[in-house]
Amino acid sequence: MTQLILALDVPEKRKAIDISRSLLGLVPWCKIGMEMFTAYGPDLITEIKGMGYRIFLDLKFYDIPHTVGRAVVSATRIGADLITLHCQGGERMLKEARAAADGCAAEGLAAPLLFGVTALTSFAPGEMPGITAPPSEFAQELADIAAACGLDGVVCSAHEVPEIKRRHARFACLCPGIRPAWAAANDQRRIMTPAAAVAAGADYLVVGRPILQADAPRKAAALVMDEIAAAEGKKL
Ligand code: C5P
Repeated sequence: MTQLILALDVPEKRKAIDISRSLLGLVPWCKIGMEMFTAYGPDLITEIKGMGYRIFLDLKFYDIPHTVGRAVVSATRIGADLITLHCQGGERMLKEARAAADGCAAEGLAAPLLFGVTALTSFAPGEMPGITAPPSEFAQELADIAAACGLDGVVCSAHEVPEIKRRHARFACLCPGIRPAWAAANDQRRIMTPAAAVAAGADYLVVGRPILQADAPRKAAALVMDEIAAAEGKKL
């Protein structure tokens, strides 16, 4: 069953808490990204996790292998259940992250899920600096590396899911750039509706602005959940 993740991209902690509280019981995951984590750090994770959410810490690590490995341990200690890192960090970085996550068991911590970022969903063909391949092709190449390094899945556009799943059947695909037909695309370029993303095989859908900027966020989230459930029904 495809799971919905709320991207908690808001400027103030009060707003983040209010909106998370209003979506309790409807959405299982909150994504805390650069905006919120930079301002409010681990305390925010503790608070949101305390409400019962699973935490996706989206800091997209990209550094030398040792630094990323240590960052994975720190993220696990503060309660992250799912962590992102850039596949472009390369094999040694990804493998060090995997080893670090697995090593957390020695501290009695559950290993977080590790997802490799492929090509950002905001990139249209021809926009990636220094990369001539189309984003979809580049994403496939990076997904192959992430799978070989033992990651749990990749962050990709829903357009790329069928091919990634064909090549790596048990690999999970987490898709931002999700836009219901009633929502604006904003800065996203490789977008898909929740229903189409479910049909494509996405495991997690990340939705931010279509819910956050709606007049009634809980109603908007419920619409997305209904669309997911209807599309799941069609798959059976
Ligand atoms: O508001 P919107 O639904 O576009 O939010 C998408 C979220 O997913 C943002 O928090 C963004 O940082 C994140 N993201 C993305 N594309 C990726 C990886 C993460 O849009 N490849």
